[in-house]
This record gives sequence, C-alpha cells and structure tokens, in this order.
Amino acid sequence: MIKDIQERIARLKKEKDVCILAHCYQSHDILEVADFVGDSFGLAQKAAKAEAGTVMMCGVRFMAETCKILSPEKRVLLPNGDAGCPMAEQLDVNMLAQLKERYPDYAVVAYINTTAELKMLCDVCVTSSSAAKIIKNMDAEKILFIPDCNLGGYIAKQVPKKEIKLINGGCPAHAKMTKKDVEAAKAAHPGALFLVHPECTAEVTELADFAGSTTEIMDYARESKACSFIIGTENSIVQHLGIECPDKRFYPLSKELVCRDMKLTTIADVLHCLEGTDGEEIVLEEEIRVKAKRCIDEMLRLGNG
Ligand code: 13P
Ligand code: SF4
Repeated sequence: MIKDIQERIARLKKEKDVCILAHCYQSHDILEVADFVGDSFGLAQKAAKAEAGTVMMCGVRFMAETCKILSPEKRVLLPNGDAGCPMAEQLDVNMLAQLKERYPDYAVVAYINTTAELKMLCDVCVTSSSAAKIIKNMDAEKILFIPDCNLGGYIAKQVPKKEIKLINGGCPAHAKMTKKDVEAAKAAHPGALFLVHPECTAEVTELADFAGSTTEIMDYARESKACSFIIGTENSIVQHLGIECPDKRFYPLSKELVCRDMKLTTIADVLHCLEGTDGEEIVLEEEIRVKAKRCIDEMLRLGNG
C-alpha cells in the first residue's frame, strides 16, 4: 500500500517537475520519496539551488517560508498546512521590536526556526549546525540571540569572546528532557553513547558524548565504531538510523521526545499535494520576503565562508 503511494508520488513529481525536500524529522516513507533529506541548513542551501519549477517542503511552515524567500519564482508547497513550529511562533514582531529597543547596540541573531515576519527584523539567521561559525564570523561583539535560549546558551560557550544575550524561548519537545531522563536511559542501556541536539537544556547537553544538528547526529552514529546509541533528539531519528544501520542499536532518550508538528505530514498528504487536492502554496508579501531574505543571505554568506 505504501509502495503504491510512493510509486504514484515518484511518477507525479517527475511529470509535474517537483523537487521534494524532507527534513530528517519526517517519517521514513517520506524520506524515501524525497530528492533531498537534510537538516535546516542543508535544506536552505538546497532550496536556493533547486532547479525544479516547484519545491515541496516536507517539514514545518518556517522551512517552506525559507524556500519561498530564497526562490520567489518557484511554487513552494507545504503538504500539510497545519504543520507549524511552536518555537518559531513564540515571539511576534512587536515583542522583538521591544527587545531591540531595550538592546539597541546588539546585533540580532535569529535561529532559522522563526517566522518570515520576524526574520525581517533580524541581522542574520543561523541553524544549529552553523550558529557558532556564523557568530564567530560576525563583526558584532554583542549578540541578541532569539528565540531558543538552550541553543543560544550552548553556542555562547563555544564563542566565549562575544557577549550573547538570551531570551526565554525554546523547543517544547527538546526542552522537556531532563537530567533524570538521561540517567534513566543510560541505566537502561549501559555503554550506549549519548548523542544530543543542542535544543535540549544544558543539564541534558552536558551529559552527552556528542551534540549536533540532526544530520550531524546521524553522521556521527553512522561513522562511529560504537554499536549502541541513545538519541537525544526527535524520535524519528531513532527509526531512520535503525533502518539504515541494522547492526547497531538506537534507543530514544525518552518516548516523549516527539515533535507533534513534524508528525502531522503523512505520505498521503505528499501524494494529495502533488495531485493538487490538498496542501498549501506558500505566498509571502514581497516586502516581507525581501526584508527577510537579507538575514538568510547573510547566513549563507557567513556559513559558507
Ligand atoms: P536541525 O535540522 O537544524 O538540526 O534543527 C532541528 C529542528 O528542531 C528543526 O525544527
Ligand atoms: Fe519546532 Fe521543536 Fe518541532 Fe523543531 S522539533 S519543528 S524546533 S517544535
């Protein structure tokens, strides 16, 4: 049944010239039909280079917005319009404007998990894998980092020469994890390496053998000589790695580490979106797009340099 749907998707995406991008948190059946799978930074780079006339972003809304910001001439589709990111929506434009007034001499660095509107007010975007490099490469010494205080705190330790101000925001799924969860997982799986996403709190990240973005975690597990791992990021990564590396063992840090929004998109949504019966085309006002693009261009420039 899933194979049938995947075959119809493969046929239709060719006929309709659609490039399918999938974030690693999507389900495995979606990864199998994607032209490119990656983390936020990889997907932003692919979106900038994609040749197809239409890009379908299997992920959440801010990711589809990023594609549209970089490729206004393309149709950008989000297969399930309800898939948002609670962290991206924590701050609105007025709240950020107030913060900028309070800290006028700080450059604003936004995690890419922010809305297009918010990006208009920021100096540069970062992803979890590019943040430290980008902040080091910036001329500014004082940084206001929004919205994830856990990622921001993790990065601040790697860039000790800069003054990094944090606000109270974060990913509800990752931030829920505690030191107790780590202790319980380690007790249940002695000897397993603990790999974590820096959206988790410091008390969790500090206990890890490796911290990185979703693709960095996957690469680490693939290349490691170790044979068992506790995965401190969205649980879909446990599934993907288990399928890819059947001789290794992967355990979730907690069964609670699930992003409900990433789980909304199904393989049937991908098919229906290609058929034109469901999904949403991303439309952005040109003024928002152009202003938001500046900080993504800065991310690509400073992150590739
Ligand atoms: P990365 O893909 O950059 O690791 O980000 C994880 C995430 O939470 C995406 O929403
Ligand atoms: Fe947003 Fe967290 Fe879900 Fe990523 S995992 S999309 S940051 S809620």
